[in-house]
Amino acid sequence: MDNAYYITTPIYYVNASPHIGHAYTTIVADVLARYYRLNGYKTFFLTGTDEHGDKIAEAAAKAGVSPQEYTDRISEQFRTLWPELCVTNDYFIRTTDRNHVETVSGILQKVYDVGDIYFGHYEGFYCVGCERFYTEKELVDGKCPDHQTTPEHRKESNYFFRMSKYQDWLIQYIKDNPDFIRPERYRNEVLAFLREPLEDLCISRPKTRLTWGITLPFDDQYVTYVWFDALINYITGIGYPDDVKFKTFWPVSQHLIAKDILKPHGIYWPTMLKAAGIEPYRHLNVHGYWNVDQSKMSKSLGNVIKPLDLKDKYGLDAFRYFLLRDMVFGLDSSFSEDSFVQRVNSDLANDLGNLVSRSLTMAMKYCEGKVPAFQEPAEGEGTLLETSRNALAEVEAGFRDMSLHKVLIAVWEFINAANKYIVSQEPWNLAKDPANKAKLDAIIYHLLESLRVIAVFITPFMPGSAEKIFLQLGIKEKEKQNLNSIRKWGELRAGLELRKADALFPRIEIKKEVPPVEKKTDFLPVKPEITYDEFEKIDLRVAKILEAEQVPKSNKLIKLKIDIGEERQIVAGIAQNYKPEELVGKSIVIVANLKPTKLMGVESRGMLLATDAESGLCLIGFDKEPITGAKVR
Ligand code: MSP
Repeated sequence: MDNAYYITTPIYYVNASPHIGHAYTTIVADVLARYYRLNGYKTFFLTGTDEHGDKIAEAAAKAGVSPQEYTDRISEQFRTLWPELCVTNDYFIRTTDRNHVETVSGILQKVYDVGDIYFGHYEGFYCVGCERFYTEKELVDGKCPDHQTTPEHRKESNYFFRMSKYQDWLIQYIKDNPDFIRPERYRNEVLAFLREPLEDLCISRPKTRLTWGITLPFDDQYVTYVWFDALINYITGIGYPDDVKFKTFWPVSQHLIAKDILKPHGIYWPTMLKAAGIEPYRHLNVHGYWNVDQSKMSKSLGNVIKPLDLKDKYGLDAFRYFLLRDMVFGLDSSFSEDSFVQRVNSDLANDLGNLVSRSLTMAMKYCEGKVPAFQEPAEGEGTLLETSRNALAEVEAGFRDMSLHKVLIAVWEFINAANKYIVSQEPWNLAKDPANKAKLDAIIYHLLESLRVIAVFITPFMPGSAEKIFLQLGIKEKEKQNLNSIRKWGELRAGLELRKADALFPRIEIKKEVPPVEKKTDFLPVKPEITYDEFEKIDLRVAKILEAEQVPKSNKLIKLKIDIGEERQIVAGIAQNYKPEELVGKSIVIVANLKPTKLMGVESRGMLLATDAESGLCLIGFDKEPITGAKVR
């Protein structure tokens, strides 16, 4: 069923409280679910908690309570967090739920009956943090590569799932379905695992050592290995085997995870499904890791970022926007409060907030607070409409292939086009002469229509702010505001009563502990005079950035491919303020005749111009689109 959509998050372990990493995955899932729901898809969004296993039993013992008491407590923290982040999951599953326990038991029996589970002996190194055995070869200096702890040596009899039997099938399946695991780097990673012989999976733990788990249906002396239990949540959550939800949603199932749990999802789960006679899921979508100020987030480093702290300090929509905009899906991202504030101020307070506020102010002033009549767009609206069409195409493509940061980049191009439209049309000048009323009305209409289109685009990301825009536009039936409603320009109804409200995103003032003396620009003495001829020797040019990438091993340098009428490569020390992907397409100013040099071994033929902003470095830009290669005088 193709107008159905099913998205899942990992079910989170209840041994720690929710942090920004959990919030990111769940908010991405929410953005997807909201988008598909809004656009008429039957949608199901599942999240929950993973509650069995050694790790949880240990955490409960440490807290001095029973595992059940402990899991109840932490699971509740997750369950109640999501509505606070406006997450609209349709169901919250716990692996201690009775129906889940029954389903796991049923699947185990099924796989056992077809002969894919056998009893065997095992000896190996067990890492409790990972809940899995390691071979000696996989350890680094005798330690778990992820947790840096020495695993226990364990020798025990256990049940095994004949995973090796499905190795060739899985390789072929991944090859036949190129977007089964995406982005491609993770597909390749799974294929690389599969180049080594796949071992059978130990799927039980003897009760003599662990009782906190689901008892095997065919041997009550054992409980189920936590991953064999947890993965099954994705089908229990939609009522496998008989519920109609399972029939509707399983064929369109998409999992969302971070790279840490790629192996269980990319290898164990499809082979388990195959053995149980169930179709594989449709897509596994894998994102990168949030680090904090370039380091791994950890309790011991004391740098764990709590979602509610950010929400309370800066507002929910700003938090949701930052997470979605800052992380390139599939790659790691580093969280810092500075970059958060910088982005919120520039993208939300400046670009979007100002656009809404200026447009509404003008509409109140020039059009008596009502949406004026629609007039056919003319040449002056050409760029505005073209950017809007382009944004729509990018939004649809970005949602299809999971590049949500690209969706936001395209939407912001449109927001900026609308801001430029105001500058180029100068409505305040037209307003001086009543003879221009029709033209002025047309401009205000197109601006208000732009706001409606923008609100539709941002609805899944920032539902609260989108709603505020609809309210200001006097639109009551916001549920009808979806992609179909913006395919044709001019659907905003004339005569709607506008309501100007407070700023959507107030600027965040950064309270700098350092006194302003730090601003070196204020105090630099002006250099000795030069003649015009001397100035003329410097060839300043407008350059368009074609490509940008981080210089390997450098956290400051970005390599840029630019166009100044000819193609060039330059290297710039701006990586702490700009991400490579947000630079592409920008016009900048460069010194074109500076002697070439090498920075970290990379050639630079020219130098870009930048200056200091309150929040860091900022590039010299333009208030109109300049001509690439033009001389800067
Ligand atoms: N219980 C297992 C998952 C079972 S799914 C059948 C588990 N739980 S977890 O609590 O450790 O959650 C891991 C997931 O949380 C990651 O895959 C990711 O979705 C999210 N994140 C946790 N830390 C993260 C970051 N630092 N950055 C991004 N996401 C991360 O594994």
